[in-house]
Amino acid sequence: MPPEPLPIDLGLPGLVDSCGRRLKSLRVSVTDRCNLRCAYCLPEGSRGFCAREETLSFDEIVRVVRVASRLGVDHIRITGGEPLLRPRVAELIGRLRAETTAREVALTTNGVLLARHAEALAAAGLDRLTVSADSLRPDRFLAITGRGRLDEVWEGIRLAAAAGLRPIKINVVVLRGMNEDEIDAWAELTRGNDLIVRFLELMPIGEGAAAGIAGRFVDLSEQRRRLESRLGIVRIEGPKGNGPARYWQIPGAKGVLGFITPLSQSYCDTCSRFRLTARGELRPCLAYEQSVPLAEAARAGDEPAIEAGLRRAAAIKPAGHAWRDGQITHTRMSGIGG
Ligand code: 5AD
Ligand code: SF4
Repeated sequence: MPPEPLPIDLGLPGLVDSCGRRLKSLRVSVTDRCNLRCAYCLPEGSRGFCAREETLSFDEIVRVVRVASRLGVDHIRITGGEPLLRPRVAELIGRLRAETTAREVALTTNGVLLARHAEALAAAGLDRLTVSADSLRPDRFLAITGRGRLDEVWEGIRLAAAAGLRPIKINVVVLRGMNEDEIDAWAELTRGNDLIVRFLELMPIGEGAAAGIAGRFVDLSEQRRRLESRLGIVRIEGPKGNGPARYWQIPGAKGVLGFITPLSQSYCDTCSRFRLTARGELRPCLAYEQSVPLAEAARAGDEPAIEAGLRRAAAIKPAGHAWRDGQITHTRMSGIGG
């Protein structure tokens, strides 16, 4: 007996782009506002935030994620701006866990409000936490962020770890003349601490482009080679997840070091991410302004239209950025969802 003809979509029901990459990870920005003013992201005096009534509601976000997770998007990350500025984010995390088939829900925060939310986030079922903190020195932290108090961030990290959200990732954007001399101190910190410290290259996005032109960019592949010879760091598989970081470790250390090198060693060929902005646009690539509007479909609860939007985003996902050839991304990072 010949086998029954297969339904046309069996086997590959997911979101696959024109380069054969499967979209598995959606970053959801819940607000484009932030309580810090990092020089390379959202400098003091920034204007033009998304109006509150334009911001997707939790119901709308859950609808989008429900459809996306059915299509194989199994990793969701809540971002901003600063996501903890959005009231009741823990409730959203609980709903994403309960009402979608996403396997993992993570959050990226600047940590300023983390102390007061850590327990609720853990209780809601948050799987992983990333905190952005560009300096180990309070005075520099304040200089880079314009407003931030480093002791509040560390207190948040401590309480989050105590609530079970470990290991915690810390993101450090390395900036020439501002914090590049702290790389070794961060590395030393991983010896005795169960932390994942990740160094990020400055990307030419929004204000980051001006900062790069002003000479702030640091090549982290070079820094990684320097740490290989100075501290004997060795390549390791790293924590699971499909992020762009590559991982190293000081032999015997409790923590690990990650390097995110979009410029010096790009990873676009394995990119599995896309983004949902606070006003409901799907952005298939961080580097391009191109987006697919999804707010109307989400508002109407029109699942076929949401699916069509997700498929459209996969279809138009560019092969990769051209930042090394002078491309600049004009949208602010805080508006795209880091
Ligand atoms: N280049 C690199 N990283 C950036 N971030 C924000 N703007 C930039 C940029 N231009 C980082 C934040 C945070 C993460 C979400 O993105 O510091 O760690
Ligand atoms: Fe806020 Fe993050 Fe941008 Fe800093 S990098 S201003 S913490 S959104």
